[in-house]
Formats: sequence, structure tokens, C-alpha cells
Amino acid sequence: MAHRVGIVVGVIVAIGLLVLAWAAIRPGPMAFAGKAVPLSGYSGHPTGVPADFQETDPLAHGRYLTEAADCQACHTAEDGKPFAGGRPFDTPFGTMYSPNITPDPQTGIGSWSDADFLKAVHEGIGKGGLRLYPAFPYAAYTYLTDDDVLAIKGYLFSLPPEKNVPPSNALMFPFNQRWLMTFWAALYDPNTRFKPVADRPPTWNRGAYLSEALGHCGECHTPRTPLQSLNNRRKYAGGMAEGWRAYNLSSDKESGIGTWSQDDIVNYLKTGHSLDRGSAFGPMAEAVHLSLTKLTPSDVSAIAEYVRSVPPVKTPDLPAPKSVPAPPDPAQGVALNKNPRGREFFAGACSGCHGWTGVNSLVSHSTLTGTRAVNDPTATNVALAVLRGASWLPPSGDIAIMPAFGAAYSDADIAAVSNYVTARFGAKESEITADKVRKLRETR
Ligand code: HEC
Ligand code: HEC
Ligand code: HEC
Repeated sequence: MAHRVGIVVGVIVAIGLLVLAWAAIRPGPMAFAGKAVPLSGYSGHPTGVPADFQETDPLAHGRYLTEAADCQACHTAEDGKPFAGGRPFDTPFGTMYSPNITPDPQTGIGSWSDADFLKAVHEGIGKGGLRLYPAFPYAAYTYLTDDDVLAIKGYLFSLPPEKNVPPSNALMFPFNQRWLMTFWAALYDPNTRFKPVADRPPTWNRGAYLSEALGHCGECHTPRTPLQSLNNRRKYAGGMAEGWRAYNLSSDKESGIGTWSQDDIVNYLKTGHSLDRGSAFGPMAEAVHLSLTKLTPSDVSAIAEYVRSVPPVKTPDLPAPKSVPAPPDPAQGVALNKNPRGREFFAGACSGCHGWTGVNSLVSHSTLTGTRAVNDPTATNVALAVLRGASWLPPSGDIAIMPAFGAAYSDADIAAVSNYVTARFGAKESEITADKVRKLRETR
């Protein structure tokens, strides 16, 4: 009898351990792609700068890689000096600030050796053994080669040193205990360098290096587990970035970008717009502006090739975008007595640029029909777009940009117009509340 109880308990414990291991251990970001081989034995050139990058100066190579990794976005405060740190990151556990990574010896990283820098970027261990939080995406940068990390360091050290001490982190217990990150890194930072997949084309492998090691797309576009690791079992199924929804990038045809052509993706990444697909706002606009617009044509095309190869994963709440324009007559479409405030706001502040059909043939990139944000029934990104507007001028020199309405309108007004926009132009009407808009307004 005792023997049988022992077996039953043993089996339950074993199953429990297996479930825990399944939950804790996650596949790597390229697990979907097939067998990886060591970089040393591979004949392609997935790392470093691409063949169509013209400059030969090593500092220019370092700059290119720093831009491809978009170090500047996080390490620069609003109106602050580039790389001097101090940008706040609001998390559910409190606020943290990015450090100064200019070569100032006292307040920046001027006294760091090559080994110190490699350890930080690959392992999340700062100078003197300080354990870094994964808000610094070292679990992606760990795939960078030593040469590329040191080229980035060379470029950073060529910049003017800036004296700046960012505010101290304000994290609640136990998240203010840096040593806990030792366990996080042991589980979720593989601390390995990039391995190409031999039976994929060299352009695909370059795209993988750019997307996984440098551009860290998954940090925003892959959902997270409760322990804040990337859930690569649902790779690219969509995540959150500073309050914005970073939508599904998998090849799912309804909720992902499976119907986007190679050119659609290339145009979006290169200019921040893609005709009938939408415009990049918020953190994606920043990635386009500071990073993706700096890449050579071959590199942007490689990223698109790689992204298109990611298997479909469905995001249940996102319907296929509706591509038929709304009726030109304002009295048709959404019933007149439904959401009168949203309709009035739209008539006064939006219809001049966006029209009542949602299709703008003069400024084609402001077309609302068919875009993901307008077809997202949470209306999160629509409300944020209305609150904050477009944050940068498109490189095409187009002067028509989306203004910010946050300062002049109440949370209730912005909720009303957002719900009007999704009802008129989207596949499914949203029900965003004033309270949700207030929270979005406060998110950094
Ligand atoms: C998504 C935002 C983000 C990006 C992108 C990013 N960093 Fe950071 N980085 C941070 C944050 C936040 C910290 C502070 C983490 C902490 O306090 O534990 C940090 C810490 C660091 C540190 C440690 C500095 C110190 O004083 O301890 C270094 C070095 C660093 N980053 C370099 C880089 C480089 C190089 C890149 C580009 C290859 C980069 N970072 C890109 C957010 C980012
Ligand atoms: C800092 C977070 C962040 C990073 C890093 C990031 N994205 Fe995004 N991305 C977003 C957000 C947020 C949106 C939604 C923007 C909007 O609605 O205007 C988005 C939107 C997109 C879209 C449009 C999707 C759609 O359905 O409309 C594409 C394509 C895209 N990103 C590709 C990429 C690629 C490729 C990379 C890596 C090279 C990348 N992103 C890195 C946050 C990010
Ligand atoms: C001055 C012209 C102008 C006005 C006024 C304007 N917009 Fe826009 N809007 C644009 C442009 C241009 C874009 C494309 C984004 C860009 O330029 O980066 C855009 C983009 C958008 C998007 C994002 C669509 C996507 O790609 O997913 C939404 C949503 C939106 N506008 C809603 C509104 C609403 C609601 C109002 C009124 C409260 C409004 N706009 C007023 C010009 C305007």
C-alpha cells in the first residue's frame, strides 16, 4: 500500500515538475526555423554591416550597428542629449530610468573596458557585477557577435561625453532587489551568439540577425509570460509597448500581417507608412525614425523576408481589417443618434483631413480604411494617436501630419471620437472608456 502511494506521489511530483519546466523554459526566438549551425562554419555573412553599406571607416560601421540596434531610443530622455540616459520606463512594478551611456568617466561608461561592455550587452551584468533589469533587452543583444558589440562600443566612445546623472529607479519591493535578476538571466538569457539556419537563404539569415539580435522586434511584438520572458510559443503574436499595442507580425492572415506583400512591409519600415496598411505611431514611429530609416535597402528587405517567414499565430480579439470605404454621406454609416459627441468631434476636427469615407486620395498615407489600429476593437492605438498625434515628420517631406488633440480635449471626448472612428471605418466597433483614455494619457 505504502509502495503504491509512493508511486502515485512520485508521478504527481514528476508531472508537476514537467509542467513547471514547460512553463519556465521557453523556446528561443528562432526555434520555428529549423536546425541552426555555428556561425564559424557558415559561408554567408549574416553579421556586421551589409555589402551595400558604402562607408569603410570602422566608426561608421559602429554607428550603423548602433542605429540598427536602436540604442538611442531608450537611452535618451525627452529633450535630453542623445545617449545621456534618463528616459523613464513605467512598469507595473514602478519606474526605472535608462543610464547614461556616453563616454563620460564619472556619470557615463567612459571607464568601462571592452570586457565590461561585452558582459553588460550579452549577460545583463553591469560594471562591478550590478545585475541589470531586462528592460535593457540584453536577452536579444546576447545574439550579437563580440565584433559587433565592440564596434558599437567604439562608436559610443567616439561621441562627446555628457555629464548627466539620471534619476534613481523607483521600484517597489521585491523588484528593487537587483540580485533577483540573477535568476531571471539564468532562465531567459541564453548567453549565446547568433547561429544561422543553413537551409535558409543568406538574405533570410541576415534578416534574422537584424530582427532578433539588433532590431529586437520581439521585445515589443511577442507576448510575455508572467515572468516577463518572451513567449516564443506565440512568437510575434503581439505585445505591448509603452501603452501601445505592438500588433501581431506573424503571417496569420486575419490578425497578423499575412496578407501584406514584401513591398508593403518594406515601405512601412522604410517610411513609416504603407498604402492601405497604415502608419507607424508611438514607439514604432521612433524605431522607424531612429533606426529603420538608417538601414540600407538590402537590410530592410532582409528584415521583411525574415518577418514574413514567421508561422501564423492568431490573436483572438483582432478581426481581419475591413477594406471597404465608409459611405461619403455623413448621415449614412453610423446611425445619427449613436455616439453624437464622437460624430460631432469627428466632423469638426478630423473629417477635413480624413474625409467621411476614410480614404484620402490626396494624402494617401492618412487613409484610415484597412489599417490595423482602426480595426482593433480595443481602440488603444486610435486613442493614443488622437492624444499624441504623429511624433515625427515623414522623410518623404510630406507636410501633412497628424496633430495631437490630447491637450485640447477631455478623456471623454477622445473616447467618443475613437469609438466613432472604429465604428465608422473598422470591422468592429470599440467601447473604449474615458477612464481607459485617462490611463493611456498617463502612460510613458
Ligand atoms: C528598450 C530599451 C533599451 C534599449 C533598446 C537599449 N537599452 Fe541599454 N539599458 C536600458 C535600461 C532601462 C537600462 C538600465 C537597466 C537597469 O537599471 O538595470 C540599460 C542599461 C544599459 C547599460 C548598463 C549601464 C550601466 O551604467 O550600468 C549599458 C552599457 C547599455 N544599456 C547599453 C546599451 C546599448 C549598447 C544598446 C544598444 C545596443 C542599448 N543599451 C539599448 C534600456 C535600453
Ligand atoms: C519599441 C517597441 C517596438 C519595436 C522594437 C518594434 N516595434 Fe513594430 N510596432 C510597435 C508598435 C507599438 C506598433 C503599432 C504602431 C501603430 O499602431 O501605429 C508596431 C507596428 C508594426 C508594424 C505594423 C503592424 C500592423 O499590423 O499595422 C510592423 C510591420 C512592425 N511594427 C514591424 C516591426 C519590425 C520588423 C521590428 C523590428 C525590426 C519592429 N516592428 C520593432 C512597436 C515596436
Ligand atoms: C491635419 C490633418 C489631420 C487631422 C486634422 C487629423 N488627422 Fe488623423 N492622420 C493624419 C495623417 C497625415 C495621418 C497619417 C499618419 C502620419 O502622418 O504619420 C493620420 C493618421 C491617423 C490615424 C492612424 C491610422 C493608422 O494608420 O492606423 C488615426 C486613427 C487618425 N489619424 C485619427 C484621427 C482623428 C480621430 C482625428 C480627429 C480627432 C484626426 N485623425 C485628425 C492627418 C490628420
